[in-house]
Amino acid sequence: MSSTAEAIVKPAGTPPAVDLREEFETSGVREVLAELDRDLIGLAPVKKRIRETAALLLVERARKSMGLAQETPTLHMSFTGNPGTGKTTVALRMADLLHRLGYIRKGHLVSVTRDDLVGQYIGHTAPKTKEVLKRAMGGVLFIDEAYYLYRPENERDYGQEAIEILLQVMENQRDDLVVILAGYSERMDRFFQSNPGFRSRIAHHIDFPDYTDEELLKIAETMLAHQHYVLDEEALTVMRDYIAKRRGQPHFANARSIRNALDRARLRQANRLFETSKGPLDATALSTISAEDIMASRVFSIAAKAARAEQ
Ligand SMILES: Nc1ncnc2c1ncn2[C@@H]1O[C@H](COP(=O)(O)OP(=O)(O)OP(=O)(O)O)[C@@H](O)[C@H]1O
Ligand SMILES: [Mg+2]
Repeated sequence: MSSTAEAIVKPAGTPPAVDLREEFETSGVREVLAELDRDLIGLAPVKKRIRETAALLLVERARKSMGLAQETPTLHMSFTGNPGTGKTTVALRMADLLHRLGYIRKGHLVSVTRDDLVGQYIGHTAPKTKEVLKRAMGGVLFIDEAYYLYRPENERDYGQEAIEILLQVMENQRDDLVVILAGYSERMDRFFQSNPGFRSRIAHHIDFPDYTDEELLKIAETMLAHQHYVLDEEALTVMRDYIAKRRGQPHFANARSIRNALDRARLRQANRLFETSKGPLDATALSTISAEDIMASRVFSIAAKAARAEQ
């Protein structure tokens, strides 16, 4: 035996071996990962990172049970990506995962932005930030568009006060709170450059890519299926076209744009049924979105106008 192996002295009462597979099953981690895979379209790199994190934590937990690890690993994270790429959705799953692994007591997620943490007047920021931290303890604190906390152009900005409190808690109470900072990639990069304290406290950076057109179409179908709606064949073709056009227009927000488009399509479908139906409607009629329900979107008229202007 090597001298390093001999140097590991295990306290009495520790198990001789740990079955990671069994831990994977009984902790419910397998279930969370399977749900993540099933419910969320695309996001392959994100899913991979989460599986890796889960494996690391399972091993860490096993090591702890054998007295091989004392410190809680740093679990604070940053989620970067464009709007509607699934950051909030994945953060909720992450909270569940960390809870099942026993890293947080409660597994809830408190989602905040600058305004929830920073006050308008002197003396307001500390109590506000502390109140949020109190609510989040035992769970995950999700800070959306975290870079707004830092406003270098404003000399007397109260954001700095919130940052200092957050940094302290991220260090001292990391066994009871996980902080996830979220936002657009470039702005987050700049934020980390000016706030090395945050950078050094965050171990896991996960980047959320934009969805492809195919993925967005699948997301549309999944969202509708959840609500017991379907696109008929023609509507599917129009939706494909809608996605390609919508991507090039202002305020495109990936899956969020799809969700909004489907809300409006359902509204149009309801009005169409209401105005055109003469007799009783069956389940198929009530749950089918047809081409015209999507065609009526402004996205098509804006695209047509742009095309005319180019000619
Ligand atoms: N991969 C996916 N599969 C299915 N639905 C998804 C997927 N990603 C996101 N969604 C849905 O799209 C919507 C927007 O996602 P979410 O709020 O998680 O994105 P976000 O990155 O937090 O966006 P924002 O930057 O606007 O806060 C939600 O309704 C979510 O359920
Ligand atoms: Mg969000």
